[in-house]
Amino acid sequence: MAAYEFTDHEYDVVVVGAGGAGLRATLGMAEQGLKTACVTKVFPTRSHTVAAQGGIAASLANMGPDNWKWHMYDTVKGSDWLGDMDAQEYLVRHAPEAVYELEHYGVPFSRTEEGKIYQRPFGGHTTEYGEGPAVQRTCAAADRTGHAMLHTLYGQSLKHNAEFYIEYFAIDLLRGKDGAIQGILAWKLDDGTLHRFNAKMTVLATGGYGRAYFSCTSAHTCTGDGGGMVARQGLPLQDMEFVQFHPTGIYGAGMLITEGARGEGGYLTNSEGERYMERYAPTYKDLASRDVVSRCSTIEIREGRGVGPNKDHVFLHLDHLPPEALAERLPGISESAKIFAGVDVTKDPIPVLPTVHYNMGGIPTNYWGEVLNPTADDHDAIQPGLMAVGEAGCASVHGANRLGSNSLIDLVVFGRAAAIKAGEVIDRVSKNQEFDPASLEAAIERFDTMRHARGATPTADLRLKMQKAMQNDAAVFRTSESLKEGCENMDVIAGEMADLNVTDRSMIWNSDLMESLELANLMPNALTTIVSAEARTESRGAHAREDFPDRDDKNWRKHSLATVGDDWKVKLSYRDVHVEPLTPENEGGIEAKRLAPKKRVY
Ligand code: FUM
Repeated sequence: MAAYEFTDHEYDVVVVGAGGAGLRATLGMAEQGLKTACVTKVFPTRSHTVAAQGGIAASLANMGPDNWKWHMYDTVKGSDWLGDMDAQEYLVRHAPEAVYELEHYGVPFSRTEEGKIYQRPFGGHTTEYGEGPAVQRTCAAADRTGHAMLHTLYGQSLKHNAEFYIEYFAIDLLRGKDGAIQGILAWKLDDGTLHRFNAKMTVLATGGYGRAYFSCTSAHTCTGDGGGMVARQGLPLQDMEFVQFHPTGIYGAGMLITEGARGEGGYLTNSEGERYMERYAPTYKDLASRDVVSRCSTIEIREGRGVGPNKDHVFLHLDHLPPEALAERLPGISESAKIFAGVDVTKDPIPVLPTVHYNMGGIPTNYWGEVLNPTADDHDAIQPGLMAVGEAGCASVHGANRLGSNSLIDLVVFGRAAAIKAGEVIDRVSKNQEFDPASLEAAIERFDTMRHARGATPTADLRLKMQKAMQNDAAVFRTSESLKEGCENMDVIAGEMADLNVTDRSMIWNSDLMESLELANLMPNALTTIVSAEARTESRGAHAREDFPDRDDKNWRKHSLATVGDDWKVKLSYRDVHVEPLTPENEGGIEAKRLAPKKRVY
């Protein structure tokens, strides 16, 4: 093994990732005077949150009646009763203050005539516990909300002296001599140096793993790096079978067309020009929850009513809306449609297709962002020294299906919560623990082995095989056959990791090596997804089994936990869902009857 030198850094907190959750956590830590580093593989304002379009959910009631209990009901129902209700209550109750905080930090929200924050309708967000009309709950900065948030949060973090390590790739978590997580080993991409970040708390904010699939709305950087690092520590990943397909990715390109487009009055049609959502979801139509809309579009295509020469997609119409409204509220997607589909949205419909968009599963945490390492006796046992927030984490507020615009609010509410908890638990006076030498050695050996991999399989080829297997076998609709085949295929594909061929051995801007390390992170995410999906013999939220079409609360209202061995074999266990909200009914909490599972119709 080559000899490596290290640059050492010591912090109270190291945050890995600089998207919305990573920046909100970084800012919250730095505001409290914690010595905080944020390590990110891309420039902060290029993190994937930049692509979040439609907005951020909070019951501000700027456009009509709304309150946290309605938001909670919608979130619980959206999750198909798999979310942890304490976390769900924490989210919706803190949502308004988190949005006002963003406003005060400087996020340029769109405005109503009265100057209030503008809010638009989004799928699955309703009034009167699903009995009233759709609510306007999604706070928007035109259709560039994530972009606006990133710029604001990055500026605020710098103002509070957070230190940024930009274009550093996190290789692995490192443990301290006491077994707690004690920081990370990172690789500085532009000069090839290796860096040890020793921290009392490590926060993973590395985003999702959309790139495990062939067609997704996610950036190329969304490679599940946090999940990969956690899996290599023998820690579990939770609810990985729940992968969200967004109904309106641009056909062919995968780029997102925001649900805000339907919120502003857009609608879907099939080859017969029919607004088919009226048939499937008579009340909320195109604003049904997105797992529902994705399934309906898939059925339309499968039954021969798709559009285009191959009848393999559907149309999203905005051409009936006033051009000035499109220019004001949806300028970004108007541009995307022009560039990626060659469509002028004021004149023609956009060709769209359900496209992988979001991972409900991830690193299990409580609602403070503390990572869980469940034991047989304690399903909520905490892994010392480690937090996870944002799409990398699974708190779990989204359960089996996330409502649109509940992601951005998750980022800021739980990024903020992690900072509050870290402020409480970090002992600012004591010295940092030393690293366990064995932990460092394991990380370096893995890096070096990858750098010198001399097999016969190019990384790009193996990645493509994985993406196609996941796309085919863990799709919108799943069957025993497809999932079994997927498990077998993925088993072979993971085995081929030993045959990778990395041709560039340099340390400076070695994208071949970086993509190989990213593939090694995608792999446990993909494996745990397909294995957890095969085991779950019910349909719930985004996990739609044709052979088990009903939800089975008796046997399956539980979180899947999946660990991955050195041989890539996945082991499953399960964890109880938290079915108690934070506030009991008799103390002003939501009525228990509202939270009881029932048939999920829109
Ligand atoms: O459709 C969208 O704008 C996506 C929002 C989300 O995933 O929350």
